[in-house]
Amino acid sequence: MKVLILAAGMGTRMKSKKPKVMHEIMGKPMLNWVIDTSKELTNDIAVVLGHGIDKVRTILNDDVEIFEQKQTLGTGHAVMSAEEFLTGEELLILYGDVPLISLKTLKNLISKHRKEKNDATLLTVDLENPYGYGRVVRNKDEFEKIVEHRDADEKQLKIKEINSGIAIYNITSLRKALKQINSNNSQGEYYLTDAFLYFKKVGIFKTDNKYEVSGVNNRVQLSELSYIARKEILNNLMLNGVTILDPESTYIDKEVKIGFDTVIMPQTYIFGDTTIGEDCCIGPMTRINCCKIGDNVKVLRSECEKAEIFNNVSVGPYSRIREKSIIEDNVKIGNFVETKKTKVSKNSKAQHLSYLGDACIGENVNIGAGTITCNYDGKNKFKTNIGKNSFVGSNTSLVAPVNVGENSIIAAGSVITEDIPDSTLAFGRARQINKVGKLEKEREKGE
Ligand code: UD1
Ligand code: CA
Repeated sequence: MKVLILAAGMGTRMKSKKPKVMHEIMGKPMLNWVIDTSKELTNDIAVVLGHGIDKVRTILNDDVEIFEQKQTLGTGHAVMSAEEFLTGEELLILYGDVPLISLKTLKNLISKHRKEKNDATLLTVDLENPYGYGRVVRNKDEFEKIVEHRDADEKQLKIKEINSGIAIYNITSLRKALKQINSNNSQGEYYLTDAFLYFKKVGIFKTDNKYEVSGVNNRVQLSELSYIARKEILNNLMLNGVTILDPESTYIDKEVKIGFDTVIMPQTYIFGDTTIGEDCCIGPMTRINCCKIGDNVKVLRSECEKAEIFNNVSVGPYSRIREKSIIEDNVKIGNFVETKKTKVSKNSKAQHLSYLGDACIGENVNIGAGTITCNYDGKNKFKTNIGKNSFVGSNTSLVAPVNVGENSIIAAGSVITEDIPDSTLAFGRARQINKVGKLEKEREKGE
């Protein structure tokens, strides 16, 4: 079986600079939802593109074939633009703007088609408000034809069963039928639905899930389907052992993987290629994007982006773990601590008010409150290394490039500009002088 996805339409009602099928549902372009579902059925997938073809190309991998429809002359014309693809036995046609079609429904459609040996088998649904859709006209229960809304008479407009557009075709029958259709209709388009007039045997598979076959024409519909998709992702996670306290305020992308007994607190956003282990507590008020997080990790009111966090780590409140940070086992990253391209080795702590950039911090190091790696001179970035078991006193500035040895101690308030050897106590600050009695003398002078 092959899958052809129609996606050449402009999507004027999106009022957007980008083609409709690139608009995202839970972090993934609509067209990629359809492609990913198709991949569960076959590797033989093609898309028909037209408007914004060069932009849409950027979201596609090489494993889908692209056909260009130079003028959008209707859904039938779109299929004809992919003529070279119309070889073999069966073709499933999907729409790029109908993103939530499920594998289960497609499998049911396909098996009905095969069992009944149809020329085509159509996916339909009953809609309370069928406005705008093509209506499925039946004759004594059997398929008779599809009438577009604009071409329908009053009686046909009352029909609630609509054409989802999704259907599976016998390719030989489809090729023959496409040769016969014309554009004599209200829109002057070649309707794919007219091909059904030339099929001998048409089957219908009616689903009861209207969201699966709903198309997106504007941003209100985009948000409605996003809500449905989001709920489904969250339900799946919950059914697989993740506690989600407040699904209404939780956003998790489809690709995200979360282990058993992890708790997701309210107002949490987990995006992209993220994996979270077991027994974690994430949130509230946390955003995680493209991170790999181990087991038993707590992230409270924090941002984590493109970082790796191992096991038994605690992050936050108000921490920011940025790209290429590696936070090893048992580390504590506390409030107002930012890390970037920094490795914090196991059992180390940076609990308060720090910036750690381009640094490599050994095991069992304590980073005092207010420690800053001065990694940037306005032009270039430099590295800071801190050896294991060292102690960095509060309010230390580490002027990179600089190396701190193992088992060393830096006095609070130091500005460290030179390397510190192992097992060394370093002071990098002016010595305090107490001038006893000086104040009294000044005051006597009346100053
Ligand atoms: C189509 C169906 C209608 C059905 C509805 C379901 C036809 C004639 N009508 O109507 O019966 O109820 O879908 O949503 O098929 N496209 C192209 N090239 C074109 C025109 C469209 O690739 O020249 C693509 C669009 O990008 C879209 C899909 O085909 O993905 C459907 O096109 P659209 O214009 O939305 O069709 P409808 O008028 O909604
Ligand atoms: Ca449509």
